[in-house]
Amino acid sequence: MAVTIQQLTQWKQEGRSIISLTAWDYSLAQALDTAGVDVILVGDSLAMVGLGYSSTLPVTLDQMIHHAAAVCRGVKKALVVCDLPFMSYQESVTQAIQAAGRVLKETSASAVKIEGGHPRIIETVAELTAIGIPVMGHVGLTPQSVRILGYKQQGKTDSEANRIIDEAIALAQAGAFAIILEHIPSDLAATITSKIPIPTIGIGAGNRCDGQVLVTADLLGLSTKQPPFAKSYVNLRQIIAEAVNNFTQEVQEHKFPES
Ligand code: KIV
Repeated sequence: MAVTIQQLTQWKQEGRSIISLTAWDYSLAQALDTAGVDVILVGDSLAMVGLGYSSTLPVTLDQMIHHAAAVCRGVKKALVVCDLPFMSYQESVTQAIQAAGRVLKETSASAVKIEGGHPRIIETVAELTAIGIPVMGHVGLTPQSVRILGYKQQGKTDSEANRIIDEAIALAQAGAFAIILEHIPSDLAATITSKIPIPTIGIGAGNRCDGQVLVTADLLGLSTKQPPFAKSYVNLRQIIAEAVNNFTQEVQEHKFPES
């Protein structure tokens, strides 16, 4: 059975943690889906880990759709969510509807994710959900605002923390089905998680969220640079190097192919 957005809320109520990872191509998505990941995010971190840019800002809507369509072809069960990239939704509600509509029509993704909790974004979330487009929110450190925020932890002062709480509540009221909490103090994430009826999915936000997400390149040890809160569960770069060395040796020694 495919994962649904309603199931995520049910899992929050049951205390069953939501497992989410990012993907940017068919084979990675297929591997994650087979391994049982609940939510596969085609994040705009694609810009950095898949396309080699130094921030998420350059990736285009066409590129996101191209990669999201490939991811969806590899997924049978997980809920696929696609990020709307920088400047594909901030200009107006109409622009956001057009961008999100393209994602749902041109890929099999079930939902879009947009960053921020400014009243303009809240209005956009309300309009998108009103026309049947599920939206995941994203507050705290929002990488599309890197030119203002940097990559620093957010919500450290009382006023910042209160603003982020208000944003999360407003996103939930506007109809978002889940919210990413990125790089905020653990206590703040726990407060938000207890105040809203929809699931929170944390990244660098402590272990009291309703689920956790990581950029898969970090999880696999493929990233050259990763945030302080990320964790690598395997060193795939090293495993790749060993495989390449073994291949090189066998070719040099005329052992592969065998005849
Ligand atoms: O783009 C992305 O990968 C994300 C995650 C960090 C949540 O938004």
